[in-house]
Formats: sequence, C-alpha cells, structure tokens
Amino acid sequence: MNINSYTSLYGVLGNPVSHSLSPVMHNSAFAHMGYNAVYLAFQVTDIASAITGLKGLGIKGASVTIPHKVAVKAFLDEMDENALKIGAVNTILNKEGRLFGYNTDCMGAMAALSEKTTIRGKDVVIIGAGGAARAIGFGIISEGGNLTVLNRSTDKGEQLAKDLGAEFCPLSEFSRAKCQVLINTTSVGMTPHVEAMPVQKADLGKEMVVMDIVYNPLKTTLLKAAEDMGCLTVDGVSMFVCQGAAQFELWTGKKAPVNVMREVVINTLLKKV
Ligand code: ATR
Repeated sequence: MNINSYTSLYGVLGNPVSHSLSPVMHNSAFAHMGYNAVYLAFQVTDIASAITGLKGLGIKGASVTIPHKVAVKAFLDEMDENALKIGAVNTILNKEGRLFGYNTDCMGAMAALSEKTTIRGKDVVIIGAGGAARAIGFGIISEGGNLTVLNRSTDKGEQLAKDLGAEFCPLSEFSRAKCQVLINTTSVGMTPHVEAMPVQKADLGKEMVVMDIVYNPLKTTLLKAAEDMGCLTVDGVSMFVCQGAAQFELWTGKKAPVNVMREVVINTLLKKV
C-alpha cells in the first residue's frame, strides 16, 4: 500500500468496533481497484464530535454501526429517501463538505436475497424487531412482500409491524405463520451460543428460503437445519458483503469487487475460529 498526500480516508464509527470486518473488506476492495484510500475502525462514544471531526478532516465517507445508526441522523446535512423512511443511517458520504446519509443494510439484504428468490407476492417472516429488522422489513414491503414480524417481546414486535404496515405474530407461534421466506435478524445462534436457533427445525418447510443475518458462525444452526430440510439458504456474509458493496459504490462511483470482498471476509472469519 502506498499512502501519500492524495490518500483518501474512510472508516467505521461504532462502539465496539474491534470485531468489525469492515476494515479488511473495504481495504481489500480499495487495493483491488487501485483506489488510493484507506479505511480504519474508529471507536466512537460521542457521535456529534466524531461527525465534526469527519467534516473538519475531510474524511470522504464512513460506515456507521451500533449504537449510532439513529443518533447520527441529527448531524447530517441530507438524507436519502430510504434512510429517512427507515429512520437509520449506516453510511455517510462526504460530498465537498456536505454529509449525506444512506442505509445500505436494506439494499444489502435485498441484494443478498435476490440471488435466491424474488419477493413480490411472497409471504415473508422476519424474526426480531430491532434496527436490522426495521431496515430489512422496509425493503421487503417496498418490494411487495407480505410481511409478518415475529418477535419475542410483543410490544416491540407490534410497534415495528404497525410502523411497516405488516402483521405481528409472537415468536412462539411461528408454526402457524404463513412463510415462504424466513429471515432471522436476531443474534440468536451467534458465537458463542452457536447451538441456539430462533425457531424449531420441525417448523421449517423444504420450500422455504431461509436467510440469517448472523455471520459468525458462517453456517448457523438455523442455516444447517434449513439445508437439511432442503431449503435454499442465504448466509449473513452475503448480506454483510452486499451492504458493504453498496457503500463502496456510493463512495467511489465504481462497481464493487464483490467476490474479492466476500473472499476476504470469509477467510478472516475462518482464521478467527
Ligand atoms: P439490532 O438493532 O442489531 O437489530 P436490537 O435492537 O438489539 O438489535 O434487536 C435485537 C432483536 O433480537 C430484538 O427483536 C430482540 O427481541 P426482544 O424485542 O424480545 O428483546 C431479539 N432477540 C435478541 N435475543 C433474543 C433471544 N435470545 N430470543 C429471541 N429474540 C431475541
């Protein structure tokens, strides 16, 4: 890498960020494309001062992650229509000193799903009612899916369903929900609790497409069970890489090297095991 006075700076703003795979993914993409830029992880407690710094230093763009995706909105100059509707920003683009907010979690999930299925007219079940569920649910509704939100706690699940114009069903009643596409947006099954899965294997049907946004482990117990049942599956790395590819395209205006990005993320995950 040849860092010089023309090098552009990007980074992820979050807390914690030490586990983030975004730096290896974006630096590999920049290097592959011969783009003179570096991407760093910034552990940020005060998002307001981080944004001031970003503007002051002319940092070209940033990813925004937990816990700042909602709070950051107040400090941006403009927001893309989807990010406004979702109510959360995971990507900032600095256009000559003006900061624009986007949400590529939604685009990333839809791009990853589109490799295995169409959404229009399908019965889609989302498990969870947090920020990821909100972004993906918005994408599902926008593409004409019939959405049901399943959540452990009723109040949060009902609220999200109401906001999205979707149905709500308690998580414990998954077996009675109409489901052609199942998407887990909770952390259930994530390392170290890898044996856990959010629904019973017996309630999966072989005609379902099953997606998990958990990417560590790469193949969660839910995805293994779905494969056993003969379902098509979409792993969490696919969504992670697709949301990163959309960021890369917003920042550089060039098509992202998706295969390079996926390979480095998978290799890094495998090394960590
Ligand atoms: P994010 O913003 O990353 O989506 P979040 O806002 O913390 O994360 O949301 C996590 C979601 O996972 C919530 O819907 C949570 O359910 P509750 O609303 O009942 O808390 C769900 N979740 C987390 N752990 C869970 C578990 N062990 N079983 C079922 N649902 C779980």
